[in-house]
Amino acid sequence: MKRVIFMCTCLAATAVAAHQGVQNPTVKARMDNMSAIAENVKTLGSMAKGQTTFDQASARDAALAIATHAVETTTLFQDPATDPKSEARAEIWENFEDFTAKADELEMVARQLSNSISVKADLGVAMKDLGATCKSCHADYRK
Ligand code: HEC
Repeated sequence: MKRVIFMCTCLAATAVAAHQGVQNPTVKARMDNMSAIAENVKTLGSMAKGQTTFDQASARDAALAIATHAVETTTLFQDPATDPKSEARAEIWENFEDFTAKADELEMVARQLSNSISVKADLGVAMKDLGATCKSCHADYRK
């Protein structure tokens, strides 16, 4: 239990540190969007690992929140705003259609999960499917 608490504190600290000193509000908004997605993935991950008790409604809510934020991703990244703290690659705006397609993919996967997660065992596959969509976009568009 002690380790779990330590881990959570540590992750929260990382998120705060990442946002510190961001000057551009447009960049801050898209980072917050990503952090919100990550928070909800963490909710599912904790249930998958048994660190928190599985609850179907909460799990589906988390998946739906990811889908909603994924819809916002496309809008929030439309402006090619920059900031020294940003990890966004310029390629996003050279290939915005592809970037959008990757956000749509995350939305689709998350929305499907928000209707399908029924038992704890579903979370393993859910985490794998979600993780693949994050990775697919980060590999090309995040420094
Ligand atoms: C459509 C592309 C795309 C998808 C899909 C995507 N990300 Fe991101 N993510 C980015 C980009 C680009 C950045 C860098 C933004 C910046 O620094 O300006 C980022 C940054 C982040 C950050 C750092 C935010 C910060 O505070 O600086 C986290 C955490 C993150 N993503 C988590 C996730 C997770 C978890 C998923 C999957 C569930 C995911 N992302 C899916 C593009 C994406």
